[in-house]
Amino acid sequence: MVTFMNTQPYNGLLTTIVIFGASGDLTQRKLIPSLFNLFRKRRTPKKFKIVGFGGTAFTDDQFREHLHKGMKEFAGYDFSDDDWNVFAPNLHYLTGKYTEPSDFQKLADTLTASEEGDANRLFYMALPPTLFPTIIENLDATGQLHENGGWRRVVLEKPFGTDLPSAVTLNKQVHKALNENQIYRIDHYLGKETVQNILFTRFANTIFEPIWNRNYIDHVQITVAEKVGLEHRAKFYDDVGVLRDMFQNHLLQLLSLVAMEPPASFSASHLRNEKVKVLSAIQPMTPEQVSVNTVRAQYKGYRNEAKVDPTSTTPTYAALRLFVNNWRWKGVPFYLRSGKNLAEKQSQIIIQFKEPPLAMFPMQTMKPNLLVLYLQPDEGVHLRFEAKAPDTVNETRSVDMEFHYESAFGKSVIPEAYERLLLDALQGDASLFTRADEVESAWSLIDPILQTWQAHQTPPLGVYKPGSWGPLEGYDLLARDGRRWLNEEASLHDR
Ligand code: BG6
Repeated sequence: MVTFMNTQPYNGLLTTIVIFGASGDLTQRKLIPSLFNLFRKRRTPKKFKIVGFGGTAFTDDQFREHLHKGMKEFAGYDFSDDDWNVFAPNLHYLTGKYTEPSDFQKLADTLTASEEGDANRLFYMALPPTLFPTIIENLDATGQLHENGGWRRVVLEKPFGTDLPSAVTLNKQVHKALNENQIYRIDHYLGKETVQNILFTRFANTIFEPIWNRNYIDHVQITVAEKVGLEHRAKFYDDVGVLRDMFQNHLLQLLSLVAMEPPASFSASHLRNEKVKVLSAIQPMTPEQVSVNTVRAQYKGYRNEAKVDPTSTTPTYAALRLFVNNWRWKGVPFYLRSGKNLAEKQSQIIIQFKEPPLAMFPMQTMKPNLLVLYLQPDEGVHLRFEAKAPDTVNETRSVDMEFHYESAFGKSVIPEAYERLLLDALQGDASLFTRADEVESAWSLIDPILQTWQAHQTPPLGVYKPGSWGPLEGYDLLARDGRRWLNEEASLHDR
C-alpha cells in the first residue's frame, strides 16, 4: 500500500495559476493533466483558478474543449469526465500578446477582479526563454509581481540560456523583478520519482554510504538513451544539439545527485548547496581535454530530416568522461552519454564497484559488483553480485537482487514528473528546482566543450546508425580505460 506524501499547508488564499504559452503543447500534454491529477488527489489549494494566456484566440469554453481533448489523449488510465466536469470551471483563458503592455494590464485587472483582496499567483512560462524577460518586465510594470498578503512565484521552463553568458544575463534580467526564492527553474528530471530515489537509496539506508567513494567504486556510468528522433522539434533541436538539450541540465543533475555529500537536511538550500559543490569540483575542460574526454556524433540521415540544415554539424549523441575532484571521488571517472535515435529508451545509472583483490575460486572470472539504478523504463534498482553456480565445484555466476516499482508498489503508481513539480511550486518548496548558481555552474562546464567542438573541430563529428548504441568512438572512450558500457550486456536486460 502506498502512503501519500505529506503536503504542506496552503495559506488559505485564492491561488491563481497563470500559464503563458497556454495554447501550446506542454500545457495540453503535461501541465493540465498534472494539475488535474493534483486536483483529483485533493492536493490543489482549496480555492484556485487556472488562467491560460496566449496568442491563439480561444474563449473559455474553447480552451476547456481543447484541454479536454488533450486529457483524453494524455491523461492515462483513470481519466473520468465526472472529475473533469468539476475541474473544468476553474479554467479560463485570455488572448493576448507577450509584448503588449496593455494586454498585461488586462490580465492584471481580470485577476484583481476575481480575487477579492489578497491572493497568491503562480506564473508559469511554458514558452521559449527569449520571451521570459519581456513577460517578467510586463508583469512587473503592471504590479503583478508585488507580494501583498499572498505570494508571487514564477516557474521558468528550460532551456535556461544557451551558454554561460546568456544564462548570466537571463538571471540578471529575472532578478531585476524577482527574488531568487520566487523563481522556480524547471528540470523535469528532478520531478521523476526514480531520480528522487537516488537520494533515498543513498541517504535512507546505511549500507551504501560507507562504500560510496573512491575506495570502493571503480567508476560510474550514466546513460540517458532515447529511441525517438527529433519528433516535431527539428528546428529547435538543430539550434541546440544534445549537449545543451540533455547534458547541461538532466545528465549533470543526475551526476550531482550521485556524487553529492549528504545534505544537512532536505531543505532547498541545503540540497542545492551540495549539488553546486559537486559541479564546482569538476574542472572545466581545456581544448586538449575536450578532444580526448568527449565524443560527439550525428545519426546517419539527420541532415535529411525536415527543417534541419542540410550542412548541420549539430550532434545528436555525446559522451563525456568527467572527474569530480574532491576527497570522495578523486580519480573515479564518471562516463555520461545521451543521444537520439538510439537502440532503446533507457535511462540508468550504473555504479561499478572495484574488483575483488584476489580470485580465490578457480572458475571465478573477476566480476565486480554493480548497483544499477533504473530510472526509466522498468523503474527499479538491481544489485549484481556473484553467487556459486549450483552443481558445480566452484564456479561463480552473476546474479541480481532486484527491486521494481511495479511489483513493490503496484502498477501505475509513478506520477508524471510535472505533477510533483507543480505541487512543490504551489507549496513553495524549491528543492527540486535549479538555483541560479547551479545553472551557471553547469554552463561553465558545458561552454568549453561547445567552444572547442566549434572552434577546433575536435574531436571530429562521428556518425552512427539510427537504432544502434551510438558511434564507435563512444566505445573507445571507455575502452581506452579498459572499460565498456555495461547497460548493453544481456545480463542487465529484461530481468
Ligand atoms: C527534454 C529534451 O528536456 O527531455 C528532449 O528537450 C528529450 O529532447 C526529453 O526528449 C527526455 O525526457 P524524458 O522524460 O522522456 O526522458
